[in-house]
Amino acid sequence: MNKISPDLNLDKLEANAVFNTFKKFDQEHVFKFWDQLSKEERQNLLEQASEIDLKQLKNLTEEHLVSTATKSIDFSEITPAEYIKLKSKNSNPEEWEEAKSLGEDAIRSGKVAAFTPAGGQGSRLGFDAPKGMYPVTPVLKNSLFQLFAEKIKAVSKKYNANIPWYIMTSLENHNDTVEFFMTNDFFGFNEEDIQFFSQYTMPAVDFEGKILMSNKHNIARTPDGHGGSFKALVKSGSTDDMAKRGIDIVSFFQIDNSLVQCIDPYFIGFHIKQQSKLSSKACIKTEPKEKVGLLVAKKGRISTIEYSDFPDEMAAKRNDEGGLLFSTGSIGIHLFDREFISKLGEDNEDFQLPFHKAVKKISTIDDEGNPISLEAPNGVKFEMFGFDALDYTSNAMIFETLRENEFSPLKNATGKDSPETVLNLQLQLFSSWVKAAGGKIEVDENGLPPFSFEIKPSYATDVDEFIAKYDGEAIAEGVVLA
Ligand code: UTP
Repeated sequence: MNKISPDLNLDKLEANAVFNTFKKFDQEHVFKFWDQLSKEERQNLLEQASEIDLKQLKNLTEEHLVSTATKSIDFSEITPAEYIKLKSKNSNPEEWEEAKSLGEDAIRSGKVAAFTPAGGQGSRLGFDAPKGMYPVTPVLKNSLFQLFAEKIKAVSKKYNANIPWYIMTSLENHNDTVEFFMTNDFFGFNEEDIQFFSQYTMPAVDFEGKILMSNKHNIARTPDGHGGSFKALVKSGSTDDMAKRGIDIVSFFQIDNSLVQCIDPYFIGFHIKQQSKLSSKACIKTEPKEKVGLLVAKKGRISTIEYSDFPDEMAAKRNDEGGLLFSTGSIGIHLFDREFISKLGEDNEDFQLPFHKAVKKISTIDDEGNPISLEAPNGVKFEMFGFDALDYTSNAMIFETLRENEFSPLKNATGKDSPETVLNLQLQLFSSWVKAAGGKIEVDENGLPPFSFEIKPSYATDVDEFIAKYDGEAIAEGVVLA
């Protein structure tokens, strides 16, 4: 173990304590290049090192890399989850009216905030900036951030309400994100109504559980997953800020779903009506093999199962109407009760979400401190998943939505869930609105027009608003309804 040179004026005792702890946990290689580091680099490395919970890391290594025990799920306890079916399938219009008015009252009285976890690495998309800056709208090529800002502002305006937006960034993308909003005057928000905070990180490790270094003086750290949202919301003071503003309900949507209805009065209304702590929108699966996490009932409580853990024969089971028995697919749109977030985010053992491992290529260095070029994954990152929060409440609710109305994730550079599908799904949805309003538009067998046009959130955020407003404007290449 290297000794600390006194001339560096670091708190020697503190540094030695960190060294010793790392040695105790067999992680002393983190300080291998200590003698070659500047004072700032040493200070920085020490800070990073002291933030790591080595005991937790040892337990995770044991659980995910050493132990061969597989977690067994008792599928006999799993039954299909009940859910609120689409308004169009519902035979009780009064119930929907009641929900709408509850939701609208909550929005109007400032009880609702928006929240977006935007700390992901977006590695599949491979875009060299925060994913929220990706240009997605068909004509104006506005970014995801701008699109969501405009959707939230449109609802604020409609209900004469203030809807603050909390955005979780990561170590890597925080500065670029904040700068983007600043350069764009916060897209019309008051500065104090958009709050940015970074999520926590976890050290990445090799397959033996040894902490990886991204260079001689930096530990390879990765964001702790969208399940890290709760801790970050609490520790950043966001939940306190929400409490001061009188916010009870947090509308949670991911950064990559351009079709999401950021603030949905019906969804909010049913959430209130059912006294739910966590509500999730679901799309109905049509194919057993569809790769989407399932919302199910486990001993009567709503829970999730990853598609890869769900047995094929169960996934293929049909109900009496011929649809899939287990059909409710989770699409990352939720409503959280603010106090429930506080419980999940405080250091409370009873509400600690589990970590999952992901095998990844993690940029690192060799024994001489030179960058390694990676052909294959060399380690793992640990992440928590937001939907695991379902296991911590018995008051949860599932609400059906249509994929074509509300789910178009941007994940990959090409093919499925790519910029091309994101563009087409917007055009298909906008065209369906024009048709529903009695407008003229020619579309192909997939509902796609032969040109690009755009409906801005300031014009309409859903089909009902569109029908109420549209008065036959011509729809052609480059038209923007605003
Ligand atoms: P994804 O699971 O798609 O992950 O995130 P990703 O990191 O964006 O993309 P890949 O897997 O590297 O290609 C779903 C949502 O959760 C957020 C993302 O920003 C996105 O809104 N997220 C994910 C976080 O905020 N933090 C994380 O650590 C992971």
